[in-house]
Amino acid sequence: MLKKLKELDSTAQTSITKINTIQELNDFKVKILGRKGEITALLRGLKSLSPEQRAEVGKVANEIKDRLEEQINSRASEINQRDLELRLEKERIDVTLPGLPINSGGIHPLTRIQREITSIFTGMGFTVAEGPEIELDYYNFEALNVPQHHPARDMQDSFYITEEVLLRTHTSPVQVRTMEKMAPQIPVKIIVPGKVYRKDDDATHSPMFHQVEGLLIDEKITFADLKGTLMLFAKKIFGDQVSVRYRPSFFPFTEPSVEIDISCVMCGGEGCRVCSHTGWLEILGAGMVHPNVLKAGGYDPEKVTGFAFGMGIERIAMLKYGINDLRLFFDNDKRFLIQF
Ligand code: DAH
Repeated sequence: MLKKLKELDSTAQTSITKINTIQELNDFKVKILGRKGEITALLRGLKSLSPEQRAEVGKVANEIKDRLEEQINSRASEINQRDLELRLEKERIDVTLPGLPINSGGIHPLTRIQREITSIFTGMGFTVAEGPEIELDYYNFEALNVPQHHPARDMQDSFYITEEVLLRTHTSPVQVRTMEKMAPQIPVKIIVPGKVYRKDDDATHSPMFHQVEGLLIDEKITFADLKGTLMLFAKKIFGDQVSVRYRPSFFPFTEPSVEIDISCVMCGGEGCRVCSHTGWLEILGAGMVHPNVLKAGGYDPEKVTGFAFGMGIERIAMLKYGINDLRLFFDNDKRFLIQF
């Protein structure tokens, strides 16, 4: 029996060194040392031995069991260590690789220009005012001295909701809304950025677009104030090199009225396709506030005067950035937007 035990011991020892997985090692342990294992089976024969022999064999058997168990355990930690190393190697990360770029959003070119325009005027002491996009016919036309039969009131040009309510066609109604709130305080000195709506849709017109309105009312405001203010604006937004010209025009809410042109930003005034070979580009409408508008706002035209102006933000952005199709602003094409 001793001999058998020793044989079992030595084959077991060689087997252990050849085992490569924890699973196999566990199975092996059960097979040799388990309650129904090979050693237990062998020791069944103990009964037939003398007490001295039994003690002797029992002692050897216990030694063998203890040592095999130890060997199995140390083989297990070898296997675990090896597996860990393999895994670390496989899952290795190169922490020196450059990171993936994070896409950050940007400011839309129209927002950028709107902020630029607004900040030029707030720098001159104007404050920002706002008004509703769904507007009463009264503020959009009537209070602005636009007569009933004026073509701008045509159903073809405006989005009417009812006979009395429409989507505002310009930011000018905020002039009268602000005057009503402030009268008779002076000065009124506001800049009004916002969305406006017209039934237009082509390369230079969109049914929704943006305007900035300006209004200044005080004692003794003259056309010279209008000229100085808007000349400064034109040079700040387009650069000192631009020339500005004032062309007589007509708006129902101003008298006299002008349109303001700058020398062409593309050709510098020589004449090119962008300026239709005139050398000039129209950038805004302006004028001295009509007495009827002052009255509608609650001011006495005998005591105060003012000037007003309005411009399209898309137009300013197109001229400033050299963009030829207005629809690009609204397509949400990143290839376009990313350039600003
Ligand atoms: N409201 C005009 C438009 O949409 C622009 C305009 C012209 C506004 C002259 C003004 C102004 O305040 O004085 O075409």
